[in-house]
Amino acid sequence: MCGIVGYVGSEQAAPILLDGLARLEYRGYDSAGVAVYSQRTGTLSVHKAKGRLQVLSDLLQGGAAVEGTVGIGHTRWATHGAPSDVNSHPQVSQGGKIAVVHNGIIENYAELKSFLMDKGVTFVSETDTEVVAQLIEYFYDGDLLQAVGRVLHRIQGAYALGILCADVPDQLIAVRKDSPLILGYGEGCSFLASDVTAILRHTREVGYMEDGEIAVLTREGIQCYNHLMQPIQKEIFHVDWEIDAAEKGGYEHFMFKEIMEQPEALRRCVFPRIREGEVYFEGFGLTEDYIRSIGKIYIVACGSSYHVGMVGKYNLERLTRIPVEVALASEFRYMDPIVDEHTLVMVISQSGETLDTMAALREARRLGGRILSIVNVVGSSIARESDEVLYTWAGPEIAVATTKAYSTQMALIDLLALYFARVLGTVEEENYRSALKEMLLLPAKMESVLEDRDDIQYFASQYFNHNSVFYIGRNVDYALGLEGSLKLKEISYIHSEAYASGELKHGTISLVEDGTLVVALATCGRLFEKAMSNVVEVKSRGADVLALTTKSHREEMARTANAVITIPDTHELLLPSLGVVPLQLFAYYVALMRGCDIDKPRNLAKSVTVE
Ligand code: AGP
Repeated sequence: MCGIVGYVGSEQAAPILLDGLARLEYRGYDSAGVAVYSQRTGTLSVHKAKGRLQVLSDLLQGGAAVEGTVGIGHTRWATHGAPSDVNSHPQVSQGGKIAVVHNGIIENYAELKSFLMDKGVTFVSETDTEVVAQLIEYFYDGDLLQAVGRVLHRIQGAYALGILCADVPDQLIAVRKDSPLILGYGEGCSFLASDVTAILRHTREVGYMEDGEIAVLTREGIQCYNHLMQPIQKEIFHVDWEIDAAEKGGYEHFMFKEIMEQPEALRRCVFPRIREGEVYFEGFGLTEDYIRSIGKIYIVACGSSYHVGMVGKYNLERLTRIPVEVALASEFRYMDPIVDEHTLVMVISQSGETLDTMAALREARRLGGRILSIVNVVGSSIARESDEVLYTWAGPEIAVATTKAYSTQMALIDLLALYFARVLGTVEEENYRSALKEMLLLPAKMESVLEDRDDIQYFASQYFNHNSVFYIGRNVDYALGLEGSLKLKEISYIHSEAYASGELKHGTISLVEDGTLVVALATCGRLFEKAMSNVVEVKSRGADVLALTTKSHREEMARTANAVITIPDTHELLLPSLGVVPLQLFAYYVALMRGCDIDKPRNLAKSVTVE
């Protein structure tokens, strides 16, 4: 996903832009560029390069080679037009006066391009973004804001835009629709960025642009307008987490750092929400009457967040007896979902910007559902469009492969299940107390799992050359297997499949042969015997079985499985929260041994803001 940075102030812009873009690298990109207004020449100085940001930075001597105090920068994740210098952003109008950086997709760019070409405009790139720059110049008659307004009435799609014009070099214009864009308020300077990490070194005062808003950034401050061009006041948030939270802190990869941070993230997420032996959600707007009126819960999400929902379904239904349906956000809109005023729609998203999930949220609202979101990024679009939001407080998660966000989302769903069940009277006192007691012990138990990570590194060294891996399990272990399988696929590029153990014999077991690696998940105590029978089933067909179970079942499992990873015994509700950690570590070590780009896997982005 693309990254945008903008600056207007009194310092040299290029070093600030390059530093900001470096903090957005985790989003995934294939080229980068900057445009800076040069007071000396009175023109835009534009520099772009395919490949890693370091290529551009070396070209510009870290920014020292470019003079000017107003500029925009971009890291591009190619959608329209192959990765190349000419297709990199900023895209510039043919008169050279307008430079534009863009995150998103202009859906009607082809018709606009042919309209402009009929007017004699010459295009140089294959991008949709160049159409925006050319169209602004086409409408520009000395009033840049008005020209931008006229363009916005004509383009369709998702866009976060940063715009720099050589005729008005003391300002930048920003526009937001369906792609996140953040404003930074500094002393004698203003900033623009795709996310907070890019500008946190310079300011902690930020504003989150809403869809349809336009902002004019100057040294004196930022003036925002709504889609009717009426001036509006933006709420300014203070960012309180530390920049080093978004740094590697001595770890080799962000992913490993974030795996290791999970116990602390869980403490931040859970401990403030258990007070005097009760689950407590400060300022929670779902009243007891409303909870009693819930007829159905829909959980809607993508990727790992969807896998949290799969576990959540088992836990919510078992505790609350409310029917729960889990849907992939990208499917939700097209499945004629049955949603009404008695449907609680839980939207789960780490980034809070996933376009598929946002679209599903809007569809669920249109159908009358009540929206509760579970989000990590404070102030993100999904959080702001929800009726209720519970933040995971996991802190910035930089690695594309999510880990601490997954485990804190899971903890929040478990707390919600206990809270609802308490209100509905569907959980026995003893079970409720035991679950909360174990919830408070979860971080320490997770630390003990992390302390045994060398065993998992050893298993990874035995299995990292496999080209296909099965994850099998029943009930919550099946849902957990979905996440273990995705972790392995997305960072080690090994094909993998998660399967309900009981379903194997209905076809897929034909794929199991000598040496097939099967990761058998058997943490759910009451289904252990069933899980064991599936281990025997695949072993008898030649599989190598790496089993995951609880310490109390280690001995029995070790009699059959080739290798056994264990987690401490805990309340059944919390088994996936512990069980996911060895699976994260296994995927990490396998990818490490395969020499993969762990924090920035090929073709992937941290937040997918395209459909
Ligand atoms: C998980 O490791 C992936 N990065 C991906 O599946 C991710 O979970 C998915 O894109 C949803 O992202 P979100 O939670 O930010 O909405």
